[in-house]
Amino acid sequence: MSAGPQARRVLSGMRPTGALHLGNFHGALANWIELQYQYECFFFVADWHALTTDYEDTSGLPSHIHEMLIDWLAAGLNPGVATLFVQSQVPEHAELHLLLSMITPLGWLERVPTFKDQQAQLKEKDLATYGFLGYPLLQSADILIYRPAFVPVGEDQIAHVEITREIARRFNHIYGREPDFEAKAEKAVKGLGGKLSAQYRQLRKLYQQAGDGAALEKARALVQANNRITVADRERLLGWLEGSGVTVLPEPQVLLTKAPKVPGLDGRKMSKSYGNTIGLREDPAEVTKKLRRMQTDPARVHRNDPGDPEKCPVWDLHKIYSDQATQDWAYKGCRSGSIGCLECKQPVIDKVVEFVTGMRKRAQEYEDNPDLVRTILVEGAEKAREAAHDTMDEVRRVMHLRGGL
Ligand code: TRP
Ligand code: SF4
Repeated sequence: MSAGPQARRVLSGMRPTGALHLGNFHGALANWIELQYQYECFFFVADWHALTTDYEDTSGLPSHIHEMLIDWLAAGLNPGVATLFVQSQVPEHAELHLLLSMITPLGWLERVPTFKDQQAQLKEKDLATYGFLGYPLLQSADILIYRPAFVPVGEDQIAHVEITREIARRFNHIYGREPDFEAKAEKAVKGLGGKLSAQYRQLRKLYQQAGDGAALEKARALVQANNRITVADRERLLGWLEGSGVTVLPEPQVLLTKAPKVPGLDGRKMSKSYGNTIGLREDPAEVTKKLRRMQTDPARVHRNDPGDPEKCPVWDLHKIYSDQATQDWAYKGCRSGSIGCLECKQPVIDKVVEFVTGMRKRAQEYEDNPDLVRTILVEGAEKAREAAHDTMDEVRRVMHLRGGL
């Protein structure tokens, strides 16, 4: 039960938007599926976050969560290796959110770019609420409560991980202090033993003097791997690496998702709010119909007009779904006007149809047996609560919130 970052732990969440589309898959899910075999992963459905903008009618939540979970599972998230759960089933997130709210300056929240952007974009909703302002702080609690090393997110979420780091730093600064910390830390370094002490000192110097992030990670791993030292000393050693106090809530790092551009049917980014999506489990006949009607380079009016793939969203799909030979064929054919757009689309249609067909097949057992999904979520929440509990014990201890016990 160390308070250091769990060096191989990853945490991420998704708002429950219901059945997912190709954009969601390539933007996040595909990445999660890969990460689950490399890290200890916690992935959750952020149902409380959905409330920050959609608090008026919450009746759709259960089905949205259920449909999204089926997509996660059918796409390949494996509950045998990753912990899958729903945020509201781990109420410790709310407790940490409350405690963090005490030390979070209002200005930090007001300055998060998504705050004003979203208020402006969702004009029809009253977002002058306490909950909406706290969106990034709730996200910070989601993250910090698992002490992950990495948070895989897209570009749009970087600011939220950044504020999470600032809040962790502030928390550690306020509550990570103890009298004569330095002396205790020095003693703990000696306690590592000859070679390791020297290594620790060297890595710490590299990080503190040159900002060498790799050295920091190595030093953390060195401390984490050592099981001869006490829990308290381990926290001191981790804190001593970065500053002058105990690290209760380690700062996580962004793991930026490399996502291809996924255009919607109208050429804009694929997004539920634009109504231009292809669902992961959509009916193949419907998928075919939609793709046949998909926007192409507007300059190609006649079959023989040369086109420019760079101006065509179908080309972006080729880049995702087609092999090199097919891409070359489409590119040249478009440029020279020797293939028609429907012809060009066919290999993409075949691939997407194959994908949704596989999804539908794998989803079937969950659709037929909703209890299967429920069981996965119950077990996931249990595992998540265990991890969250460890952190909250520490947090309550350093904040003197053990109710006189
Ligand atoms: N805000 C994220 C989004 O809209 C969802 C989210 C909530 C999240 N809590 C999180 C993502 C914690 C990563 C970590 O996509
Ligand atoms: Fe787009 Fe292909 Fe038509 Fe060119 S030929 S405009 S790449 S669909």
